[in-house]
Amino acid sequence: MEVKDFGRLLDGCAARLFVFGNEKLKLAVSDYGTSLVNLIVPDKSGGPVDIVLGYEDVSGYEKDESCYLGCNVGRNANRIRDGRFLINGREYILDKNDGKNNLHSGAHPYSKRMWTVGKYNDESVTFALKSPHMDQGFPGEADIRITYELLEGAAFRIRYEAVSDKDTIVNMTNHSYFNLNGEGSGNVLHHRLTLYADAFTPADAESIPTGEIVPVAGTPMDFRSGKTIGQDIGEKYQPLIFAKGYDHNFVLDDQKGCRPAAEVLGDETGIVMRIETDYPGMQVYTANYVKDVKGKNRHIYGPREGVCFEPQFFPDAVNQDKFISPLLKAGERYKKEIIYRFSS
Ligand code: BGC
Repeated sequence: MEVKDFGRLLDGCAARLFVFGNEKLKLAVSDYGTSLVNLIVPDKSGGPVDIVLGYEDVSGYEKDESCYLGCNVGRNANRIRDGRFLINGREYILDKNDGKNNLHSGAHPYSKRMWTVGKYNDESVTFALKSPHMDQGFPGEADIRITYELLEGAAFRIRYEAVSDKDTIVNMTNHSYFNLNGEGSGNVLHHRLTLYADAFTPADAESIPTGEIVPVAGTPMDFRSGKTIGQDIGEKYQPLIFAKGYDHNFVLDDQKGCRPAAEVLGDETGIVMRIETDYPGMQVYTANYVKDVKGKNRHIYGPREGVCFEPQFFPDAVNQDKFISPLLKAGERYKKEIIYRFSS
C-alpha cells in the first residue's frame, strides 16, 4: 500500500490517497469521503487505462456540487419522497435538496467528511465513520465501515457495514462514473451493456418510483441480451424523457445472495467489467446532468461521458410497502457488497 498526499481541504486538513493493486488492476482511494479516485485496468493491448471519472486532488471532491464522482453515498442513496419517512410510527425529516425531495441524504454528505483510516495492508483498506443520532435527520448512532479489497485476479470488492443503536435506514452505494474507453475519452453511448434485470421501477417526473414493478420486455429498458447504451436512449419513451436518459432503478434477477448485475464492454479498449452484488436493485445513470465538470488530467466532463451502476435498495423504499425494506434494526449488522471484475 502506497499512501500519498492528496492535498488539503479549505480548513487545512490533509487528505490522503491509498494506492494499491496487483499486476492486473490498480486502485486509488481517498480518506476524504472514501471516494474511488482512480481505477486502472489494462486494455486489449495491455496498456493501462483509468476507467473512472474523478478530480485531480481533494479540492475537486470538496467542491463537487451534485455529481458525487466516485463517492460512496450514505446513509441513504437516491431519493426519498418529500424528504420524510416513518420508523416505528415516528416521522423523520431530511433536507429537501432535490426540489421537494431528498437526494443522496442531503447536506453534509458522508462523501464530504474525513473518514478514520482503519486497518490497511497491501490488499485492502478500511475506513470508519461514526454517524451520530439524527445525523442528516436519520435516527440512531451508527458505526459505518467501508472496505475496498482486492480479490483474486483482476477484481475488487467494496464492502459496506453498519451497526446502529436505534432502528434506522441504511442504503449505501458507490457512485463511480465508469468510462471503459478511459475517463475523458468521450461518451459511453457505444459501450455494450447487459443487465441481469427482468424489471425496473418506473418513476415520476421527480424521479421518484411510482411503486410499480414493470417488466423490461418490449421497452428501451431491456438490456437482457446486451445492446449499446446509446441504442434506445433517445426513444420517445416517458421514463427516458422524464430522466433525460437512463436514470432508473433496475430490479435485479434472483433476489438471493451475491449474483451478477451487469456486464459492460468498452468498445474501443475491449475492457469488460462485470458487477456482482447482493443488493435488490441497481440504479443505472448515464450522467444526464453532468455539465462542464473540471475533472482530472484537465478533462472537462459532460453528459453521457460516464455511466454509474449503483447497486442499492430501491429508491424511496422506506416509503413503499411493495419494495424490500432498507430498515436496519437496532443492534443488527448491515452487510452489503459490490464486486467488480475485469477482463480485456
Ligand atoms: C441519481 C441522479 C442524480 C445523480 C447525481 C444518481 O444516483 O439517480 O438522478 O442526478 O445521482 O446526484
